[in-house]
Amino acid sequence: MKILNIVGARPNFMKMAPIIEAMNQYPDQIQHLLVHTGQHYDEKMSKAFFDDLGMPKPDIDLEVGSGSHAEQTARIMVEFEKVCLREKPDLVIVVGDVNSTMACTITAKKLGIKVAHVEAGLRSRDMNMPEEINRLCTDVLCDYLFTTDRIADENLKGEGVAEEKIFFVGNVMIDTLLKHKAMAEQLPLRETLGLAPDGYATLTLHRPSNVDDPQVLQGILDALAEIAGRLPILFPIHPRTRKMIQQFGFEAYFRTGERIAGPGIWLTDPLGYLEFLHLNMTARLVLTDSGGLQEETTVLGVPCITLRHNTERPITCEEGTNILVGNHKEKILAAAQTVLNRPGRAGRIPEKWDGHAAERIVEVLVAREG
Ligand code: UD1
Repeated sequence: MKILNIVGARPNFMKMAPIIEAMNQYPDQIQHLLVHTGQHYDEKMSKAFFDDLGMPKPDIDLEVGSGSHAEQTARIMVEFEKVCLREKPDLVIVVGDVNSTMACTITAKKLGIKVAHVEAGLRSRDMNMPEEINRLCTDVLCDYLFTTDRIADENLKGEGVAEEKIFFVGNVMIDTLLKHKAMAEQLPLRETLGLAPDGYATLTLHRPSNVDDPQVLQGILDALAEIAGRLPILFPIHPRTRKMIQQFGFEAYFRTGERIAGPGIWLTDPLGYLEFLHLNMTARLVLTDSGGLQEETTVLGVPCITLRHNTERPITCEEGTNILVGNHKEKILAAAQTVLNRPGRAGRIPEKWDGHAAERIVEVLVAREG
């Protein structure tokens, strides 16, 4: 069985790493190639993750880069079609919900190639999110839908997906987290930055709905500045957010420096996987609009405040440590107050988020296709 594994953007890398490792256990049955679309291309958004995760270098790099959604998606499709025609895979595996996920799915299916989607069935029901469109288009076309929880199974069944295509396997991102936790713990970064366990918050922010409108972004930054008066916030900044902050002239909200000296929102370049895991493990609070971080904090038992009105990962609120607050200043502040005024950590780990999801995926594929 010849498989093309697809990655494109930062959140894909930690999902694909354990799948590749699990495939390597079947050298007689599986031949696999890693395709990087090049959606993310900055050293700190891409290569650093390959190094951290011990991933093999991509066999094929499409180098598509940034652009409008149509441009980026179209470029990936044109380049990936050539790869499919040349390599003639039996199966393509896509992960997550980025433009690369959808573009490669459509391309492969139109050539009659089977596609498996890892992290299928997540739904925010918010069609303003580009990722929701990517999820819907991907899932309707795929032959194998590997899910992280039973809510996703129900979403898919509700959309008419045949039950025999759905496989509840658990969460590959958590495979990676559990594998690297001990290693991340050993890093000296927290001390280098002058941070004490439970003495800081971390922040990620990059959704267009939060960072593209100056009024919305200003409201969020006002709330964060107040929280940062009580607890320093470390903010590894995404390139698109950096661009918007410069465009709107919001630089005064931030501090920079080698060490976190006192209150404030402290900017750093994007961090590597291990560094960020290291910092999140002992954060008092995580503030985010990312998808994956909602799941990682649930497993780490660290309180997470999600600056979005909806989530495609409701299990992190039902069972984990996540609170959805939207992006209005007062709501963000009230949630932070609640979390900071209550001691300890809460939540439980969802079913099958146990470090073995990738093995389950590959077992299914070998049994059915091998
Ligand atoms: C993409 C995903 C999003 C995911 C995020 C994680 C889609 C629709 N969005 O969003 O779901 O949460 O990745 O990071 O696929 N840029 C750089 N260097 C890079 C990559 C991007 O400078 O390596 C800048 C460019 O200005 C680019 C902008 O960031 O135009 C947006 O990049 P893009 O890949 O379109 O989307 P993300 O916002 O990164």
